[in-house]
Amino acid sequence: MITPPHDVIFLTSEMYPFSKSGGLADVMGILPLTLVRLGLRVAVITPFYGRMSTGQHPVHLVHENCPVGYPWFDTTADIYRADYHGLPVYFIERGEYFDRRHYYCTYKGDYFDNCERFIFFCRAALTAIRHMGLGARIVHAQDWHAALAVAYLAFWRRSDPFWAGIRTVMSIHNLAFQGRFSYRLFEESGLPLEAWNMEGVEFYNSFNLLKAGIAYADKITTVSPTYAQEIITPEFGCGLEGILARRQADLTGILNGADYDIWSPDKDPILEQPYSADKPKGKIACKKALINTLDLDPALIHRPILGFIGRLRRQKGIDIVLDIVPELMKLNVGLVVLGEGRAEDEVRLMSIVEDYPGRVVGIIGYTEEMSHIIQAGTDIFLMPSRYEPCGLTQMYSLSYGTPPVATAVGGLRDTIVSYPNSEANGFIFDAPTPQGLLTSVRKAVTVWEDREAWAIIQRNAMLSKFSWEKSAREYIHLYQSLHRDITLSRRTP
Ligand code: ADP
Ligand code: GLC
Repeated sequence: MITPPHDVIFLTSEMYPFSKSGGLADVMGILPLTLVRLGLRVAVITPFYGRMSTGQHPVHLVHENCPVGYPWFDTTADIYRADYHGLPVYFIERGEYFDRRHYYCTYKGDYFDNCERFIFFCRAALTAIRHMGLGARIVHAQDWHAALAVAYLAFWRRSDPFWAGIRTVMSIHNLAFQGRFSYRLFEESGLPLEAWNMEGVEFYNSFNLLKAGIAYADKITTVSPTYAQEIITPEFGCGLEGILARRQADLTGILNGADYDIWSPDKDPILEQPYSADKPKGKIACKKALINTLDLDPALIHRPILGFIGRLRRQKGIDIVLDIVPELMKLNVGLVVLGEGRAEDEVRLMSIVEDYPGRVVGIIGYTEEMSHIIQAGTDIFLMPSRYEPCGLTQMYSLSYGTPPVATAVGGLRDTIVSYPNSEANGFIFDAPTPQGLLTSVRKAVTVWEDREAWAIIQRNAMLSKFSWEKSAREYIHLYQSLHRDITLSRRTP
């Protein structure tokens, strides 16, 4: 028997450092690599976007005009490859679908052809696996963009020996994004008619891509144990709680980790000065630099500065933060917000900024560098999410000694130990309401004023570690439950 060259092939719409709009990219930038380091043979397949940073990892064309197995019409993709620290990353290139300014949407809304784009991505990725002889034991799809690959495989492996041995894992990073389209697009997907039913891809008469992945995957994972429990309830299930509950035996919550090569203040080249739990002084220099860079009131060096980084959407509770700005200002604190998203939140943020010059700063846009500067230069991190599958920003804020004030949902619950507790690394509150957030911020500010108490929380925060190795081992365990042949003994070349 010929050994398949890959144990696991990841299909993802984003991967740091090539493309990123949120935490999915961060996860794909480190989980596959950690699996490689643990001895698995892994590859990643992702779209070749127009707006892609290839940085120090040159991308080469490796297969031109790879036919994209649509049975009803001929088209092709060019396949590029990069070597990311020993991890092969394959890019599916087709300009008309991926060479755009944004990944999924513009300010006007989603791209009209998102379904066609990601049908194409899934079919092209699977054809590339076959045509290029990549081979795989497990195909591991991320979120709705890659979910159709799972459904195709469920049908193809019934009749085609090439796919027969492949097992599938579907990972849910955010259940609110499901990829819902019309029946016409189901027909275009090429899935057999038998998939169109309540236990398959149909969702209230629409074609639901994430549901397709959930229905047909051998195993389903999500990104924290608490979220895995939450999503089988109507409150968090976004309409898919029924099918998720029915598949509960195959559903696992594996907590994400943080990539401490990128997110550690003692080796972050972007920061004004390095610092760590044992040598925390540099944080003050970072705070001064933040005050100077953003033209904040210099008096804020003696008061806490609150930070918020994230997509400006209901999920993240940015509206809750903006609701309490007048009350926050009475506490004599500063506030720095970095994000982009809903136009109404952006407009509201900018008008609030005008009301509090030197005290509230809003940066609309996406800037990786600024996110590091804010994590390091602020004192308290705000994360009043209405739901949070895992959340990475709070893990980064913990690492940077900026204790989070966050809601008791999903991964926030699994990563933050709330004050008062000798192990406390932050502050948790129950309901995502302005009053809940304000009460919790008041508590945090009071503790901040007690330098000794704050130093303990800050130190606990900086020592809280969320290891990718631990999570990667849980994935390996899951893969092994699907494929006995997966072992750690082999090393990738
Ligand atoms: P989500 O994936 O739901 O957006 P996470 O907390 O898991 O939330 O991950 C968000 C990631 O995106 C983090 O790496 C965070 O630093 C980054 N991020 C979010 N918004 C911005 C922004 N405006 N500029 C820079 N980085 C951002
Ligand atoms: C999603 C979730 C976030 C999670 C990230 C990575 O975007 O909203 O909570 O951390 O995926 O898994």
